[in-house]
Amino acid sequence: MLFSFKKLASLASLVTVLSTFSADYTAVASPLQARAQCAATLSTAASVANRLQSYWNGSGWGIFWTDANTIEDLYNLMLADGSSTFDVADNTRIGKLALQQDRNAWISALGGSNDDAGWIVSALWKVGDYRVNRGQNSSPYYNSASIVYDLIAAEWDDSVCGGGVWWSSAHTYKNAITNELFLYTSAEAYLRFGDAKYLTNAQKTWNWLKNSGMRNSDGLWNDGLTSSCANNGQTTWTYNQGVIASGLAALAKATGDSSLIAQAEITLDAAIRLKTTNNILKETCDSATPTSSCNNDQAMFKGLWMKHLQFYLDNAPDRASKYASFIGAQESAVVHYATGSNWTVGNVWYAPSQGGSLFTAQTQTAGLAAHVSAAKYGPC
Ligand SMILES: *[C@@H]1O[C@H](CO)[C@@H](O)[C@H](O)[C@H]1NC(C)=O
Ligand SMILES: *[C@@H]1O[C@H](CO)[C@@H](O)[C@H](O)[C@H]1NC(C)=O
Repeated sequence: MLFSFKKLASLASLVTVLSTFSADYTAVASPLQARAQCAATLSTAASVANRLQSYWNGSGWGIFWTDANTIEDLYNLMLADGSSTFDVADNTRIGKLALQQDRNAWISALGGSNDDAGWIVSALWKVGDYRVNRGQNSSPYYNSASIVYDLIAAEWDDSVCGGGVWWSSAHTYKNAITNELFLYTSAEAYLRFGDAKYLTNAQKTWNWLKNSGMRNSDGLWNDGLTSSCANNGQTTWTYNQGVIASGLAALAKATGDSSLIAQAEITLDAAIRLKTTNNILKETCDSATPTSSCNNDQAMFKGLWMKHLQFYLDNAPDRASKYASFIGAQESAVVHYATGSNWTVGNVWYAPSQGGSLFTAQTQTAGLAAHVSAAKYGPC
């Protein structure tokens, strides 16, 4: 049932999507449009995104930082398929803050979470890109991204563990994700805006990360550092293995240093080898039976790995063929194993769920990210 429905839906929208592509090719020469994307996969993504709206609560989908990623994935989809169906950012809490462009309002909303702030910077850029792409005013989103970026940059500290951005304004923890996001947003900001301060930040962050001890002998990043600045041995979450790669590719593009690509692939390839079951990503909290133990944060992580592999390939396109079949396999697993009735997507991708899958806005968003990534870099 599911598959024939999917085929029909794909055929129905194929003509629309293809004509949108040709319109985009003539309208803009953006690198975002450089490669025709897989229309069938984009159609699946749109169905998953449509179902996501059933979790809408009036100002978001439930969690501030995961909402940043939901927004980013929806705009990433619309930039790919030319639609405007999910142009909802202005109605979200994050979007309302963006439109205010008020530093104090951001400080209050962020509550000192520098990792949340990193996701938000990236999401605000994606909405800004969409506004540019449609000839709309992008400046509130780009300005707010700049405000939030500067708040994170001010949380860099050399006095403990030799550097790094604090996880939060409580200044009790230095961890991988906050600094991976700072690497990514700094290098990406340099590519976007050309200001040397961003390149300096990206370089100092990578220099600190690579000597921090947070990457273990398998090539995977653990969660963070102990108070004595040693690897704390905590979970090697999938998202940590993806965000490092997008940051390194952006820095490689900014500097021309291809050794950074090799560094990224040490971790990407370790994740493919060690964070999978049946060649499909499996978070340690994922369980097909009896039930997954992931919280709503963790339930999104695999989607973040997929999205940041897409961002990695955006800046390292000559690496795309190496990862195409793996990306396609994840997308296929999301369709065949993780998708329930009416396009709901659960967190268990690696096997058919036997009651163990969770179905939330975050798992739905992770599925969306897998489809959008595969539309661009998977086989079609
Ligand atoms: C399927 O999902 C859509 C979008 O969320 C919703 O409008 C519709 O009511 C759902 N249908 C059923 C039968 O649950
Ligand atoms: C809706 O979700 C947002 C975060 O996404 C949250 O801040 C807000 O409190 C939620 N609103 C309601 C009415 O539950």
